[in-house]
Amino acid sequence: MKFFIDTANIDDIRAANSLGILAGVTTNPSLVAKEGVSFHDRLREITKEVSGSVSAEVISEDAEGMIEEGKELAAIAPNITVKVPMTLEGLKAVKVFSELNIKTNVTLIFNANQALLAARAGATYVSPFLGRLDDIGQDGMTLISTIAEIFDRHSVSTEIIAASIRHPLHVTDAALNGAHIATIPYKVLEQLVKHPLTDQGIQKFLDDWNNQK
Ligand code: E4P
Repeated sequence: MKFFIDTANIDDIRAANSLGILAGVTTNPSLVAKEGVSFHDRLREITKEVSGSVSAEVISEDAEGMIEEGKELAAIAPNITVKVPMTLEGLKAVKVFSELNIKTNVTLIFNANQALLAARAGATYVSPFLGRLDDIGQDGMTLISTIAEIFDRHSVSTEIIAASIRHPLHVTDAALNGAHIATIPYKVLEQLVKHPLTDQGIQKFLDDWNNQK
């Protein structure tokens, strides 16, 4: 499983990229709005920093609008992936993007049928939202394993991005259950690195080194 970072914050993206683990970036309108910057300018900055896929979401609700927006986004850099919501109009747009060789990430996936439809329309990635399912008392991780099994059984090449990741256990379980990618907030990335025994071990080694006779 590969790691994407789920943010539009350029400092967090640079910090994650410096670790050598970053395969891509996902953004969404809420994450961009938090930054208070021009969307296109920020995408230019991000695509200069990261060579992997950078998902940029359309906000139109009709296929025609999505296609127009998506073409403009895709023109920013070759590694832009157009993020499209899971709707009938979204599927129409994905079909067109696929014919134009523009990569797509179908977002707001909450069941396996949505994932299979998106894949068959030509999506490069599907993004099931684990955390938001957990929030309403449903098991987000079962959705990951179900999609992974269906894609495997039917030789679907669309990649599964485990999204709406809230904590380190989501990351481990997403990897175990067949997600190709986990897109994680920077805070979760920091949590993944940390273990109290690692910190204690470092302190003990330093203390012993400094106290040697
Ligand atoms: C994924 O592409 C989405 O941007 C994201 O994971 C949504 O997560 P949230 O439920 O924490 O907003």
